[in-house]
Amino acid sequence: TKIYVPADSGALALGADKVAKAIAQELAARGIDAQIVRNGSRGLYWLEPMVEVETPTGRIGYGPVMARDVGALFDAGFLNGGAHRLSLGRVEEIPFLARQTRLTFARCGITDPLSLDDYRAHGGLVGLEKAASMAPADIVATVTESGLRGRGGAGFPTGIKWNTVLGTQSDQKYIVCNADEGDSATFSDRMIMEGDPFVLIEGMTIAGIATGATKGFVYLRSEYPHAIATMNRAVEIARRAGILGTSVMGSAHAFDMEIRAGAGAYVCGEETSLLNSLEGKRGVVRAKPPLPAIEGLFGKPTVINNVISLASVPVILDKGAAYYKDFGMGRSRGTIPIQIAGNVKHGGLFEAAFGMTLGELVDEIGGGTFSGRPVKAVQVGGPLGAYFPRDLFDTPFDYEAFAAKDGLIGHAGITVFDDSADMLKQARFAMEFCAVESCGKCTPCRIGSVRGMETLDRLAQGIEPEAQIELVTDLCKTMKFGSLCALGGFIPYPVMSALTHFPDDFRPRAALEAAE
Ligand code: NAI
Ligand code: SF4
Repeated sequence: TKIYVPADSGALALGADKVAKAIAQELAARGIDAQIVRNGSRGLYWLEPMVEVETPTGRIGYGPVMARDVGALFDAGFLNGGAHRLSLGRVEEIPFLARQTRLTFARCGITDPLSLDDYRAHGGLVGLEKAASMAPADIVATVTESGLRGRGGAGFPTGIKWNTVLGTQSDQKYIVCNADEGDSATFSDRMIMEGDPFVLIEGMTIAGIATGATKGFVYLRSEYPHAIATMNRAVEIARRAGILGTSVMGSAHAFDMEIRAGAGAYVCGEETSLLNSLEGKRGVVRAKPPLPAIEGLFGKPTVINNVISLASVPVILDKGAAYYKDFGMGRSRGTIPIQIAGNVKHGGLFEAAFGMTLGELVDEIGGGTFSGRPVKAVQVGGPLGAYFPRDLFDTPFDYEAFAAKDGLIGHAGITVFDDSADMLKQARFAMEFCAVESCGKCTPCRIGSVRGMETLDRLAQGIEPEAQIELVTDLCKTMKFGSLCALGGFIPYPVMSALTHFPDDFRPRAALEAAE
């Protein structure tokens, strides 16, 4: 019998290690021979630690399990799928999972993250095997045809980015994976690195073969120690198995990679700042052009892709461009791992084809707020994303549809707020965040964010409100069009969306009270 207890950070934070220990003790005490597998998380975080047991009828889940529940679970015969108040039934039939289309996260939570045998048994390495026998230009063409766009947030077509690197001559090229996942409500990069690290290694290796790069780096934030450890171990295993090295799976291609830890600056998720940091310099944004695809790491042509973009490549090579492209809508093709968090009942990872509406995701999938109060606003796309009111809940999850409503999908994190949220405070928080995280290179962001905080403070105190709103609006225009990178350039989205959709929160308190 196999018993699965996740070793994912989210599950660990909720006590998974204690649960695994309690299960091991019960097994020993009862003289039962069973294997405990530390898998990744399925991404149903309100049910973590979620313990699964393999039975003839499939995997049966129990959760959230505390160490003190373990004895009773054994008494209830959970090793044979016995009923208990924590029973979740067949895991694959839990609606939150059953409604998903898992392409990128196909193995996450199912396999032992560090077992190459498990990885192969669940379809791993098929994409890389195919890529190793293809001409680089054909790999790039497949990725272009699939319609895959950058999942870090900007949505730039991955194949076109690779094509620039392929077409640039150089003695050395690099693949850099941006794993500096800093947006609020986002955890998909972390989940896949901890739950299925080989898929990222496979995606990066395919990118290397496609563009002629022989060396890869994963720039991983130091706040993710478990992901760093898992990735390091996975790289070592892949090296020993001949997947990485001078001859990738026995082919004529060479590719190796390293994991590098960042030091904890939001702006180091911006690609040029990340490159500076990787080179050992201060994490300051570089002006573009030159594009990193032409002059990137150490001045060499560099592919920089987000974790999820790279982790989506193996399934595209395996199943073909048309298979992937069939999912989605408009110019947003394939699936996207949506992360639902904040004040929400069912927080977790939901991978789906593009096109579901924001309302479906928040009300049906997320189950509304955790507090049980009405949803007031959701912020999509991290701290630089817009706040959407219920009126915009019919917006489909699609890059262009969000942009048309002055919002962005970003890295696909959704933060839910109930009606106790004060949107003036949220707007002020955006300015404060920008002031704290600004790299300081350009004036609209460095100075503008501080002036923005001061102006919103005056507004909160009721000092000449009309004048303050005019000032903030003008300042947002300057930041949007005058900033060098997305940090200063996108802060106007949360600020202006809060102001536009929730004007009552920006009226002086006294005036509001008088009106009531
Ligand atoms: P961008 O629009 O400047 O660039 C998009 C990407 O395409 C870049 O990698 C750029 O180098 C590349 N590119 C453009 N033309 C190219 C060509 N002809 N050949 C090859 N490559 C080419 O966007 P930027 O500033 O890199 O990213 C902004 C986005 O980042 C925002 O949309 C925001 O949502 C997102 N973001 C994500 C965060 C996260 O934690 N994941 C945090 C903050 C922002
Ligand atoms: Fe640096 Fe802000 Fe300018 Fe970006 S917008 S380059 S973070 S000062």
